[in-house]
Amino acid sequence: MIHINIDSKKTGAEIRPELHGQFIEFLGSGIYDGIWVGEEADIPNYNGLRKDVVDAMKELKPPVLRWPGGCFADVYHWRDGVGPRNQRPTYFNENFGTMEVENNSFGTHEFMMLCEMVGAKPWFNINMMTGTTAETREWVEYVNRETSTSLGKERAVNGHEDPYGIELWGIGNESWAGGGTYTAEAYANEYRKHTSAIPSFGAGLPWVDTNKEMQMIAVGPDGNKPKERVAWTKDFFAELGKYRKPRINGYDLHFYNWNLGDETDTVTSFSTDAWYKVINGAFELEDVIHEQYALIQSGVAQIPKEEGTFATEINVDLIVGEWGNWHNIDFTAPSILWQQCTMRDAITTALTLDIFHRNADKVKMACVAQSVNVLNSLFLTKEDKTVLTPNYYVFQLYKKHQGAEIIEISDDSPTLERVNEPDLKHVYSFGSIKDDVITMNIVNTSVDKKESITFTFDRPVAMLKGEELVSDSIHSYNEFGENEQVTIKDTPIDNKEKQTFTITSKQASIAVYQFKVIHEEA
Ligand code: AHR
Repeated sequence: MIHINIDSKKTGAEIRPELHGQFIEFLGSGIYDGIWVGEEADIPNYNGLRKDVVDAMKELKPPVLRWPGGCFADVYHWRDGVGPRNQRPTYFNENFGTMEVENNSFGTHEFMMLCEMVGAKPWFNINMMTGTTAETREWVEYVNRETSTSLGKERAVNGHEDPYGIELWGIGNESWAGGGTYTAEAYANEYRKHTSAIPSFGAGLPWVDTNKEMQMIAVGPDGNKPKERVAWTKDFFAELGKYRKPRINGYDLHFYNWNLGDETDTVTSFSTDAWYKVINGAFELEDVIHEQYALIQSGVAQIPKEEGTFATEINVDLIVGEWGNWHNIDFTAPSILWQQCTMRDAITTALTLDIFHRNADKVKMACVAQSVNVLNSLFLTKEDKTVLTPNYYVFQLYKKHQGAEIIEISDDSPTLERVNEPDLKHVYSFGSIKDDVITMNIVNTSVDKKESITFTFDRPVAMLKGEELVSDSIHSYNEFGENEQVTIKDTPIDNKEKQTFTITSKQASIAVYQFKVIHEEA
């Protein structure tokens, strides 16, 4: 029996919906086939956007969608993706050896159509490697300027009269690697140039009536390189502190839960040890978040106060722009970086989202890599078939936390002792409250142990709902054209108003329970 004590009146940070963001990139079938099939396709579509994916994505209403990469962002020329589709240039996308033909049929307007349909806030990532500052400036002008300018008029001719008002701008991608193998100092200087080239639209000027506050997001470190990530962040902020500071609002850390090296551990076939190894790997991100958050605070603190009348404060938010499991099969798969998604991936996805939830005071936004057909996907497509992966269902279950406040909980979950590996807790829990509804997550990491769990609340509550993501086997996944192996099932409801409830947590499962606070009559 595991006891969880819930102090629902002790609340913490708000869980910003943006912690449940997604990322799409021109990589393998991540966009073409996965999202864009074209208007002429036999596959049902909305103006070229794959209908089944759009419909299911709408259910999640991704708070933010990052595009066009990833690595591809640093070779992407936005002009190639606007105007009549049959006149757009065609070239090769060599990213990660993908060797896909890129015909640019999915560009700025198609991406914005997707964002508008699914209710996502767009995050545009500019090309800092092969692109110029003029190109950066013109892209911002094109999407955000009123129609009276040439670029604004061109946007209107291409189908969108009103400015899009894009707020989030990523300046380069992984500039320490494929994005230019920059040093942090060189990147900081390039960053200064690109952010200075972006028009301000008068934001911040008291005499200008504008609501176009844009957020500039700098390239944070490779979260998987313990020494380099510390050096990158220290050096970047040290450089930023020299002379006048550029516009900066966010700092984008990337972290993958790498699972390479053991050929017997494939995405869908793995030992019990490999199950625990991958689950354990997901926890490193929490330490990286604490480390990077502290480094950002000290980095910002050392930036000298500006002189003069127009001096402004600086605040830099930590963002995790790419995260997910990266198994070893995908480099050889037919569509590069395409990987299946099993119950193991669902467990790490749930644990990772709970890391963001717990650290909602430190992380402002996070995007899973990626929505469709690449790495830790929520959707997989093959010809006319689509599956919702176990990860999709985790996002669906966890949506209930968006906009809620963290509550204080404690549990006495035992640890699973493992030889040569750190011990894992058997059960992980997390809780939040919003509008008097308490939402509790239970992630049971054990391959074979069911557990009785007692929730004890600080006040009487009524159980509203219980849902569980389960499957028969830890290797289960949802296969094209077959009944779903991993899906959400309702759990029994105990409908008495009280303070203590007992539930059963199945092995290898993710459950979300909701309770309504009962206010005692005065
Ligand atoms: O998500 C796949 C790739 O991983 C992205 O293009 C890149 O940013 C990262 O290295």
